[in-house]
Amino acid sequence: MTTKTALSSVPLHDLIANRWSPRAIAADKAISKTDLLALLEAARWSPSCFNDQPWRFVVFDKNTDLASWETALSVLVEKNQLWAKNAPVLILSVAMANFNHNGATNRWSGYDTGAATMSLSLQATALGLVVHQMGGFDGSKARELFALPEDCTPMAMLAVGYQGEVDDLADDFKAAETAERSRKPLAEQFFAGKWGVGV
Ligand SMILES: Cc1cc2nc3c(=O)[nH]c(=O)nc-3n(C[C@H](O)[C@H](O)[C@H](O)COP(=O)(O)O)c2cc1C
Repeated sequence: MTTKTALSSVPLHDLIANRWSPRAIAADKAISKTDLLALLEAARWSPSCFNDQPWRFVVFDKNTDLASWETALSVLVEKNQLWAKNAPVLILSVAMANFNHNGATNRWSGYDTGAATMSLSLQATALGLVVHQMGGFDGSKARELFALPEDCTPMAMLAVGYQGEVDDLADDFKAAETAERSRKPLAEQFFAGKWGVGV
């Protein structure tokens, strides 16, 4: 199984260092109900602006509702379908557009939904699961097929499961699966006191 621990200038918590986004997902390993609930609880306990909790997550579990799972798979772009087809669970993350307390536009809803998704992802890492987020899906189709309300934005589809074998991936994906993870240098994006002044 490929591990891709983040290379950092100082040690990181194992959960953060070891989380990554594999495409090789074991087709034959279901996620227990307890583990699935733990992922959702982790997202639920995320912080949000005004504690509005603007995220919504629609869970598609292949093992309990194959028809919905197949519909979720069908909204992915073809390239994502090629590997996400092995994920026992797909989850659609959705951000509600307006605040509950006054109906005004919540410009942090995408931010908060992303933060909740990261909590979910780290809980997954802690449970030995993997999460691979995808922006490559048809949002309009998802809106229609899953009867999403008007005042929301479908943000990402998450493939969730246990890591699988690189050899089981289609050839097109093998190189990326084993390649080193990369990030820009710290000082290019993290500033000290003033924009552009690297830490
Ligand atoms: C919002 C979002 C959309 C993404 N969309 C896709 C996608 O459509 N297909 C894909 O294979 N990976 C997708 N990814 C995964 C990223 O490519 C991946 O997170 C990035 O390369 C960093 O790798 P790491 O998560 O392993 O650290 C997406 C990630 C995020 C957060």
